[in-house]
Amino acid sequence: MAETILVLGSNGQIGTELVSALRQVHGTNQVIACDIKEPLNASSPFELSDVLDKDGLLQLFKKYQPTQVYLLAALLSAIGEQKPKKAWELNMDGLLNVLDLCVDFKVKRVFWPSSIAVFGPHSPRENTPQYCVMDPNTVYGFSKLAGERWCEYYFQKYGLDVRSIRYPGLIGWKAAPGGGTTDYAVHIFHEALSKGSYACFLSAQTALPMMYMEDAIRATLELMDAQAEKITVRSSYNLGGISFTPEMLAAEIRKHIPEFTISYVDKDPRQAIADSWPKSIDDSFAQKDWSWKLKYDLAEMTSDMIKNIKK
Ligand code: SER
Repeated sequence: MAETILVLGSNGQIGTELVSALRQVHGTNQVIACDIKEPLNASSPFELSDVLDKDGLLQLFKKYQPTQVYLLAALLSAIGEQKPKKAWELNMDGLLNVLDLCVDFKVKRVFWPSSIAVFGPHSPRENTPQYCVMDPNTVYGFSKLAGERWCEYYFQKYGLDVRSIRYPGLIGWKAAPGGGTTDYAVHIFHEALSKGSYACFLSAQTALPMMYMEDAIRATLELMDAQAEKITVRSSYNLGGISFTPEMLAAEIRKHIPEFTISYVDKDPRQAIADSWPKSIDDSFAQKDWSWKLKYDLAEMTSDMIKNIKK
C-alpha cells in the first residue's frame, strides 16, 4: 500500500534533505512538506502548518490521512536558551499535539528526533552509553529528554509505533543549520571557501559527536524501515557519528584549502552548552537492533562538503 507521509518542520536542516530522500523512495505526491512559512523554492505538495495550532493540525490529518508522520519542528539548543519558554512550548506541546493525532488517526509509524543534548554534566563524557545518568541543563536538552519519555509512553500505553534517534551535530551543504551549538561545523566550510578564515565560537579542543547529513538521513530511513520487533529502544537511539574538535576539523579543511586559518572567540555562551555534552557516543544498540553502520569519516565528510559547496 502506498504511504502518505507528513513532514512537519520541512524547511529546516533535516527536513529539507529528508523530504527529497522520502520523495525518492515513496514518490513526490506521497510526501507532504509542512512548515509555518512557505520556503522560497517551495516544492509541492506543501502545506502551511503550525504544530502548536491543534485545529489546523487536525484539518491537515483529516485531509491527508497520513500513514507516517515525521515531526521535525523544534527550537534548537542555542536559540532555546534565548527563548526558554518558547522552546519548551514548541518542543513539548508540539510533540504532544502530534502524538495525540497520530493515535487518533492510527498512523502506522512516527519519527521524532532527539539529540545528544539529552545528556548533561554528570553523564559519562566519553563513549556515552545508551542508558546512564542524564541531567541536561539546557531547555532544548530537557525538552528532548521529556519528549523521549513521552514517545516511549505512547508506545507502551497506546501502541503507537514511534521511533527516534539522538542525532549528533549534523553537517550538510543543502540547508543551513538552525541555531544550535554544533552549527560551527557547517559555518566553517562556507567561510573557509568564501573568506579563507573562520572565527569559531567553540574552543580549539571542544570535542563533540557529529554526523554527515547523508549518514543521518540514511540512518533515519533505515530505522523507519526496520521491523517493529527489532526496535528495542522506544525512547531514542544513540548514534555516534564522528567525534572531532574544531582544531581537527580545521586541519582537515587545510588539506583542501592550505591557506585556511581559524581563530577562536572567547566567552561565547554556546561553549558552556558544548562542555555539558558528550565528546563521543556509544551506538551499539543501533548497530545491534537495525544494523546501523556509519559511512562517512572526517576526511570523507570534509572533502564531500568542500566539493559540493564549491559547486
Ligand atoms: N545540533 C543540535 C544543537 O546544537 C543538537 O541536537 O542544538
